Amino acid sequence: MAKLLKKIVLTGACGTLGMELRSTLASLADELLSVDIADAPAGLLENETFVQADCSKFDEVLPLMEGADIAVHFASIPDERPFEELLGPNYLSSYNVWEAGHRHGVRRVIYASSVHAVGMLENSAGIDVDADHAPDTFYGLAKCFTEDLGKLYWAKRGMESVHLRIFSCTKVPQNARALRTWLSFDDLRHLVERSITTQATGFTVVYGISNNDRAPVNNSKSTYLGYHPKDNAENWADSLLAAGVDVDPKDPAQLLIGGPFATVPLGESGVAGIKAMATDAPAPAPEAAPTNGKKLPSFLTKKGMNP
Ligand SMILES: NC(=O)c1ccc[n+]([C@@H]2O[C@H](COP(=O)([O-])OP(=O)(O)OC[C@H]3O[C@@H](n4cnc5c(N)ncnc54)[C@H](O)[C@@H]3O)[C@@H](O)[C@H]2O)c1
Repeated sequence: MAKLLKKIVLTGACGTLGMELRSTLASLADELLSVDIADAPAGLLENETFVQADCSKFDEVLPLMEGADIAVHFASIPDERPFEELLGPNYLSSYNVWEAGHRHGVRRVIYASSVHAVGMLENSAGIDVDADHAPDTFYGLAKCFTEDLGKLYWAKRGMESVHLRIFSCTKVPQNARALRTWLSFDDLRHLVERSITTQATGFTVVYGISNNDRAPVNNSKSTYLGYHPKDNAENWADSLLAAGVDVDPKDPAQLLIGGPFATVPLGESGVAGIKAMATDAPAPAPEAAPTNGKKLPSFLTKKGMNP
């Protein structure tokens, strides 16, 4: 049976989130072209091809977009670093994807933006997708840059884009902050699928967050995407709050949407602060068997500690 699209290009295909998206994307198009600076993942899907490329180099990105309908741009360094280290992977790569896409008639880019585009706003502000940019780091600034790039290409060149302001996308919520910020892998897949299959999006911003009781943002202006997240971090509240609720009420890392990213000096890792939170109370799934002191699965250690 013919699929919806001819070709989707996925950048950052070897990353934590890229790996979660490959099957969904492959089901929507005749061809999935997966791209990463890293080596090819083991076991490509039937209609998937892989190209190793550096997205910060325009000449490497341009040929990838030939014949593509949609680009899903997830390649980047997902943490705060000195500006010079982010310039290629997080800033130039975005320009390259949009410009190469424009030259080859790509209709829409789905972009992995981040909560850190608005990380200096307060949890209590009750923001929606129209909140002004308030980046908390050079990392967040790259997300603001790319959102505005998407807005520019829509206004001047009619190229659509959907910017997913992802919070904390992990298999299970990692810490008490994640009661507000968690995005499950299933909800991520659903959000990306809706961002692709919605007939017209123009320039759209949407928060990538699950159906959490304690979500500090709302998507009321992006309901036309039909994104209805099903998972809720509250199901982990007992274990996540087991360490207690005794935090400094004036700590900006507690008060601001960006969490630890809002307090790190520019250029220094924010993920390190998030990992520090996670070691206090690793979160087993409610139905999971206790670990009994055995080694934690990889999703609770190396992977899934992202912003
Ligand atoms: N995981 C989260 O909770 C989260 C939250 C907010 C935003 N995001 C965004 O989602 C995207 C994916 O995040 P992730 O957690 O999967 O990160 P990740 O580090 O696991 O994956 C990123 C991938 O991009 C690739 N990459 C880096 N530089 C590249 C380049 N110059 N050219 C080609 N490929 C390059 C890496 O090799 C890696 O495979 C990132 O843009 C990140 O900023 C993630």
